Amino acid sequence: MSVMRLDKFLADAGAGTRSDVKIKIKKGQVTLNGKTVGKSDIKINPDSDEVCLDGKKLIYNEFEYFMLNKPQGVVSATTDAKDKTVIELITEAKRRDLFPVGRLDKDTEGLLIITNDGKLANRLLAPGKHVEKTYFAIIAGEVTEDTVLRFAEGIDIGDDKPTAPAKLKLKGTYDKEEITKITYNNVSDGNNSGNDTIISEVEITITEGRYHQIKRMFEAVGMRVIYLKRLSMGNLSLDDSLKPGEYRMLTDEEVKLLVGNF
Ligand code: URA
Repeated sequence: MSVMRLDKFLADAGAGTRSDVKIKIKKGQVTLNGKTVGKSDIKINPDSDEVCLDGKKLIYNEFEYFMLNKPQGVVSATTDAKDKTVIELITEAKRRDLFPVGRLDKDTEGLLIITNDGKLANRLLAPGKHVEKTYFAIIAGEVTEDTVLRFAEGIDIGDDKPTAPAKLKLKGTYDKEEITKITYNNVSDGNNSGNDTIISEVEITITEGRYHQIKRMFEAVGMRVIYLKRLSMGNLSLDDSLKPGEYRMLTDEEVKLLVGNF
């Protein structure tokens, strides 16, 4: 890693904001290779120098990677004037430059990667890379073999061109009476399903990331998404021990799995 300013190192290692850490340096709380330092702008090498705050060695990671089970009601943004953001849920982050890799709608749940690794994010989201994203969905309407075939051909959703082919797997169909007994977090009953008497459960895999894509694909075939949860992105699957709103750091192996998509 290349050399960097001491105050940036401290801020990126989670010791506080740039102005917080300047105060800590002035107060003599910071040592560099065992000696107290008084200046914020000295250059250090994160690979070879040892920086301590109040006697505790700081670990610097250039990148942080988290897997969040995004809950409903939270927006996929770094800041928002009205709603809580996914970044606010990552309370143990050291880095202040985290962002979500792509967007899930406010009412969509499931796997969202949160990182500050712009290169990885661009590669995962680049249209040419065709990274697969798989979702579980509850649909108001009867998904049939014909729907599966139509999705496999690509669907005209009113954009310049039809969507790329999508893989649709039917998991089950229920009548409205039955679905009222099944609870998916807070999606529990037929109130959401309007006049439809049949409810379908599906898994759908898409390779693009168009605005409201899955909802618009089902609308185009006369059906409606009433619950949507992302299960996987590329080779990375949501850890099913994470409840909505919970997150954890990605393991090194999982980061490698993601990079392995290219
Ligand atoms: N498709 C949608 O319609 N919404 C999402 O959040 C993700 C994919």
